[in-house]
Amino acid sequence: MKNFRNLIVCLCLFVLASCSVNEQPEMVMEKDTMVLSQENAVIEAIMSRRSIRQYKSVVVGRDTLQQILTCGINAANGQNKQSWEIRVVDDSTRMKKIVDLMAKGNPSKTIQDLEGCFRGAPVMVFIARDLGYDFSAYDCGLFAGNVMLAAQSLGVGSICLGSPVRFINEGSTRDEILNLLQLSEGYELCLCVGLGYADESPEAKPRMSEKIKFLEF
Ligand SMILES: Cc1cc2nc3c(=O)[nH]c(=O)nc-3n(C[C@H](O)[C@H](O)[C@H](O)COP(=O)(O)O)c2cc1C
Repeated sequence: MKNFRNLIVCLCLFVLASCSVNEQPEMVMEKDTMVLSQENAVIEAIMSRRSIRQYKSVVVGRDTLQQILTCGINAANGQNKQSWEIRVVDDSTRMKKIVDLMAKGNPSKTIQDLEGCFRGAPVMVFIARDLGYDFSAYDCGLFAGNVMLAAQSLGVGSICLGSPVRFINEGSTRDEILNLLQLSEGYELCLCVGLGYADESPEAKPRMSEKIKFLEF
């Protein structure tokens, strides 16, 4: 009799437990109702931005530059360390001083090679990274991305440039140039972004959409 009562209690507990499991709300993933649109200003800026290698001789105002650079420093960055230092050169006399120093430090390069690596952009943004932070290069890349997209949205053309960084970092005048750029100790040049009003409208280069895979395993 006692065994029979225990069996009933066990059965009741089992039924209760199963009910409570079944009562758990089922996770229902709702499909988003987003309308994909080219009329979205951010998407429009992303999809229309192209690297510009020919610029008009029109000055980009400091207010415009300030707005673009403020968008740059609002980029996501590791631990909000803002592990960049940004130096802007927006006149040809100062740019020439930099190119002359690059020529002194890279005797195998012609002045045309060195001037050419800046692609004729009238404004050069030098982005330096904090060598003491392992993610600083990503921070600088995200800064550069924001700058180029903000510029695009304001009708200013841009180009991201790695080759001037190579020439400067590998040349014997590296330290002189870093001094001229007034960078802090422990910072190294990471990227440049050229800005200016575009004098060309390049077509988009093809993208490898197969590099994106939705996983189904
Ligand atoms: C890290 C990085 C370095 C680059 N360096 C150079 C460069 O030294 N010279 C140049 O003409 N373009 C440079 N570019 C621009 C790329 O060539 C360009 O972004 C790429 O061909 C795609 O074209 P798009 O920007 O018009 O979409 C660089 C871009 C990135 C992101």
